[in-house]
Amino acid sequence: MDETRIQDRGMAGTVSPESLDERPPVKQARLKGGVGQGIAHDSGTKHVTGAARYIDDEPELPGTLQVFIAMSARAHARIRAIDLSPVRAAPGVVCVLSASDIPGVNDYSPVFGDDPIFAEDLVSYVGQPLFAVAAADLNAARMAAKLARVDYEDLLAAITIPQAIRLADEFGEDLLPPHEMRLGDAEAALAAAPHVVEGSVETGGQDHFYLEGQIAYAIPGEDGDMLVHSSTQHPSEVQHNVAKALGLADHAVTVEVRRMGGGFGGKESQPALFASVCALVARATGRPAKCRLDRDDDMEMTGKRHEMRADYRVGHDAAGRILGAEFRHVVRCGYSKDLSGAIADRAMFHADNAYDLKAARIHSRRLKTHTVSNTAFRGFGGPQGMVAIERAIDRIAFDLKLDPLDVRRRNFYPAMGGGRFGRTPYHQTVEDCVVAEIVGDLETSSDYRARREAVRAFNAESPILKKGLALTPVKFGISFTTSHLNQAGALVHVYKDGSVALNHGGTEMGQGLFTKVAQVVAEEFQIDVSNVKITATTTAKVPNTSATAASSGSDLNGMAAQAAARTIKGRLIDYAMQRYHVAREEVVFLPGRVRIGAEEKRFRDLVGEAYLARVSLSSTGFYATPGIAYDRESASGKPFYYFAYGAACAEVVVDTLTGENRLLRADILHDAGQSLNPALDLGQIEGGFVQGMGWLTTEELWWDKAGRLRTHAPSTYKIPTANDRPDDLRVKLWEKGRNPAATIYRSKAVGEPPFMLALSVFSALNDAVCAAGDYRRFPDLDAPATPERLLAAVDAVRGG
Ligand code: MTE
Ligand code: MOS
Repeated sequence: MDETRIQDRGMAGTVSPESLDERPPVKQARLKGGVGQGIAHDSGTKHVTGAARYIDDEPELPGTLQVFIAMSARAHARIRAIDLSPVRAAPGVVCVLSASDIPGVNDYSPVFGDDPIFAEDLVSYVGQPLFAVAAADLNAARMAAKLARVDYEDLLAAITIPQAIRLADEFGEDLLPPHEMRLGDAEAALAAAPHVVEGSVETGGQDHFYLEGQIAYAIPGEDGDMLVHSSTQHPSEVQHNVAKALGLADHAVTVEVRRMGGGFGGKESQPALFASVCALVARATGRPAKCRLDRDDDMEMTGKRHEMRADYRVGHDAAGRILGAEFRHVVRCGYSKDLSGAIADRAMFHADNAYDLKAARIHSRRLKTHTVSNTAFRGFGGPQGMVAIERAIDRIAFDLKLDPLDVRRRNFYPAMGGGRFGRTPYHQTVEDCVVAEIVGDLETSSDYRARREAVRAFNAESPILKKGLALTPVKFGISFTTSHLNQAGALVHVYKDGSVALNHGGTEMGQGLFTKVAQVVAEEFQIDVSNVKITATTTAKVPNTSATAASSGSDLNGMAAQAAARTIKGRLIDYAMQRYHVAREEVVFLPGRVRIGAEEKRFRDLVGEAYLARVSLSSTGFYATPGIAYDRESASGKPFYYFAYGAACAEVVVDTLTGENRLLRADILHDAGQSLNPALDLGQIEGGFVQGMGWLTTEELWWDKAGRLRTHAPSTYKIPTANDRPDDLRVKLWEKGRNPAATIYRSKAVGEPPFMLALSVFSALNDAVCAAGDYRRFPDLDAPATPERLLAAVDAVRGG
């Protein structure tokens, strides 16, 4: 990539001062919406005014049926008999479908074939789909479903992690085989270490709580073809699963998504169920069919973040330097495999966070429970993996009576450019580490040292309210760890009038991907971004795409779209060289126009001419991330193209009588490389941080003994609200940020990494609890740190 362009991005192209003098007096316009400009989300105004159309906002076709999915009432049971005749006879019912009505394969799983669309003779969680009812009116379908007579024979169910361990040990089988990563000889390092900290920390699950629930709308076409509108991060997988269920080839199914009202990983594998059910109804009736879940059904029926327990043993010297570490993860996967293998792996990939462990052994067990199958959620296991090392470091600092920040700093991976590399537990060298520098900058800008003193002074005077402070780093690996997924495609058309249509395989879920990719194309052609039409993602335009996930949406699709635009631009240049007898360097794209030799033309005029000269103005583009390879067998290689870094400093206060707490102030410094769009990136950082805070503090999933989720609505499940955002929130992009990896304009992925900045809040709460016991005992706070858990932890450190 041309280095001058990188520095000039967003400015007036690549004009040098000399050449400016020679130009005819055309107004020097600045490109509107080029790369690097903090322009608003393309749908920002539409989101706010309600003009943005989600699937349920689209006018329904005549004859549309509404679909209700009936769910299992038992966690683990054999179905002895099921009588659906009263359902079929109920008023308004048009169609009832169960497993035996599926012409293709009864499965909507992403990989392993273990997620039945409808249960056959076994149910494995409360909420599992049994059958579907379609009627013109959703309420009629819902009422009819209640008339089913299901005869269950209950079986032993494992709901909690301890029950899952017992079940797995008894039957000798984990849901997925255990996995291990090893670097050096951790046992020997621990045995030789002068000090060892040891403990266990649990983190809860999390519901995605996207504002738009799961929804699909299937429209039958000729020859059995099916068009499905799906709120999905993964149109290609939905396409494949619908085709599989209908017994058709992939080419018979088209999946389209303009936008989601949030996905957060919850629309990676889950939407295939609803799309498949709708398509089955549409096929059976010949009518369009829609399935839109209400909040309670969505929360009971769809997978969540994995709950995890991490046991740690970390050996260190008297200065707090880590000498070796051992982690044991137990992951609660739910009833099926889904994406649990990759998620549990990513937890392992992040057990080191930003620290050079020297020697490490990481062991992971993936266990089955009779609960909904857990799935992708922002961070994809990474957050769960990082918690234990941060806890261990707090504990080392407590034992050694050091400031935790000093212990953190002593253990960071060596800084980029210093000639020394650390090696991760999966044997990738860390060559781009800037965490020490970011943390240093944040330490200064957040006034950490003085505030540490102030917190201590406050706590000495305040018997009931206790404050806590923490500054924690994030290092997050960017790439799908399943290497082949790191590919993307795009399709760009330039019309005769110079306007551009952009399509690519990425999906828009609020993160601003469509805006960023449009900026890349606008920059390439040097046209205002308003001339680039953003179009819905569809499997008919770009095939075989990966999920928009792993934060890699703009890395992958930005490159693919740039490649497509460059192909067309290359053809325009070739045309101009021939037609005007100029050299390649004499064709220069300037904002809104093109200089050809001594002449200038509007972009649209050159395009119009090229059309008449029969030049193709449409192109695909493709990108595959270079240089990554990982061998899971030996748990070594380079799974990540690069790492994203950040740090956060959080100050909290806890009421030790009630457990109530507040985040008072948060300072965040995050590395988005050379940001494609600083406004969107700041939004991602703030949103990710607050969502992470919700996971670690208020959001509690609670299942009863029978395996029923009892927190399935906002009345009982508490996501953060605008009020939980601290009054004092200082979010900044790290200005020195640049990506040594050759990503699109040297930007860095930003979708998930900021989620883990919330570990600072968790650590600060632990610090406040420690203060409640006059810093005599180290607390063992688990997440979510609800008021109840905080009170119990306060009690424990006070020796109660
Ligand atoms: N931001 C919003 N507003 N809504 C979302 O659903 N999903 C997150 C993150 N930011 C999400 C979001 C998740 S889980 C991922 S992986 C990335 O966005 C995906 O988009 P990207 O790859 O384009 O960053
Ligand atoms: Mo994000 S969990 O990778 O969809």
